[in-house]
Amino acid sequence: MTHPTTARIGARELVALLGSWHAEGSRRTAAELAAALRVLIIEGSLAIGTLLPAEREFARALPASRTLVSAALDRLRADGFVHSRQGSGSWASLPGDTPRLGLGEPGPGVIDFARAAPEPVPWLMRAFEAARLRFPRFLETSGYTAFGVPETRARIAEWFTARGLPTEPGQVLVATGALTALSRIFEVYTAPGARCLIEQPSYANALLAVERARLRPLAVPMTASGWDLPAVETALRTANPAIGYVVPDFQNPTGHRMSEPDRERFGRILRRAKIPFVVDETVVELDYTGAEAPRPLAALAPGQVITIGSASKSHWGGLRIGWVRAEREVIERLARTDLGAPIFEQLLLAELLDGDLGERRELLRERRDELVRLLRANCPQWSFRVPGGGLSLWCELPEPVSTRLVVEAERDGVWLVPGGRFGAHGGLERWIRVPFAQRAEQLRECVRVIAAASARLHGADGVVEAPDLPVV
Ligand SMILES: Cc1ncc(COP(=O)(O)O)c(C=O)c1O
Repeated sequence: MTHPTTARIGARELVALLGSWHAEGSRRTAAELAAALRVLIIEGSLAIGTLLPAEREFARALPASRTLVSAALDRLRADGFVHSRQGSGSWASLPGDTPRLGLGEPGPGVIDFARAAPEPVPWLMRAFEAARLRFPRFLETSGYTAFGVPETRARIAEWFTARGLPTEPGQVLVATGALTALSRIFEVYTAPGARCLIEQPSYANALLAVERARLRPLAVPMTASGWDLPAVETALRTANPAIGYVVPDFQNPTGHRMSEPDRERFGRILRRAKIPFVVDETVVELDYTGAEAPRPLAALAPGQVITIGSASKSHWGGLRIGWVRAEREVIERLARTDLGAPIFEQLLLAELLDGDLGERRELLRERRDELVRLLRANCPQWSFRVPGGGLSLWCELPEPVSTRLVVEAERDGVWLVPGGRFGAHGGLERWIRVPFAQRAEQLRECVRVIAAASARLHGADGVVEAPDLPVV
């Protein structure tokens, strides 16, 4: 069963979320109000665990009779969309568990669209040769580097400094990927039961890390244009989280990038909150706009931000190399949580950071444009923003059928992740993430399969069945 978070929604805010519902006011029925609230919960606009306003206030704000509101809530309770407890009030919930689709490995012959991960940069083997020449001297050591190989730490520090965030090698720790780094940070800075402020939607594996650390997610919904900073501020002030996690650069899955003014405001909010905040920069390098990059968030709240990054998307996921950049004291604490990353891959990373990512960006930008074109041609009822970077499109479906769509697509050989996996408690059934990191022929196959699957789910009006889709 879902438990309440301390996030709450006021009566007027809830009425605003219901949009035009209240326009017809008292002429509407309890069943209709229940249906409208259910959609908000399934879509994720009303985060699971959010405490609802008292019935009387809600009825007054709608406006509708208290009996109608009561009957609607009873119906939602009976269906598992609302839970109530004496003394705690009522909160949004979901019946049962959202299936954990998209975890593990795809079956044989199934194309992997669950991961947004491209092939390695073409110069990987050249960097490999250069790293090989530097490797033998490590054969005289134990090979354990709790902080990382000095030259790699220095190279990462330089990279941060060049981005406008002065960094010493002592502020860097090399880790086996950003995801492992996140779990290690949770291990040091939280205790089971503590709250972690996160975006809704957020990176699915980060949500699993929150769950594994037995933290309680405090989900702040993103808006159509990005971060709801007043809501972040309120959550920090009223819900007392122990830590936060944010992806400000081409957020996974929405693709939003936090603007410079929002960064300044976010920095001010963090400085007031005084809790450690993890900033995940894993896809920061995959920027296809050519515009000047905004400053790293750590430059705006230096004492609090713990930045994690990775070579997984910029260079290759198979390296399993990432890093942490923070104050020295943080790095020293984190170094005690593991025995270090593989030497050879660290040397390789130092070589790779010298390479030019221009071609990689160009290739991925073309793939993004190809997926945009394919979806517009074959799934015209879907809507999405074209992100300036990152690796996926976050698509809004005409109906809340994400899980069903994923199940259908898997049957036809394409493995996707339903929207619910990007929500702290599921929901988000109206959304699906479609990565564009794959090669063009795989993008075509993916769209062919999802268009056919949508056609089956929606009764096919106007959509041609596979295999005759006009995908070119
Ligand atoms: C935002 C974000 N953080 C972290 C990761 C995982 O990084 P790593 O492979 O370094 O563990 C991903 C991969 O999809 C990601 O999108």
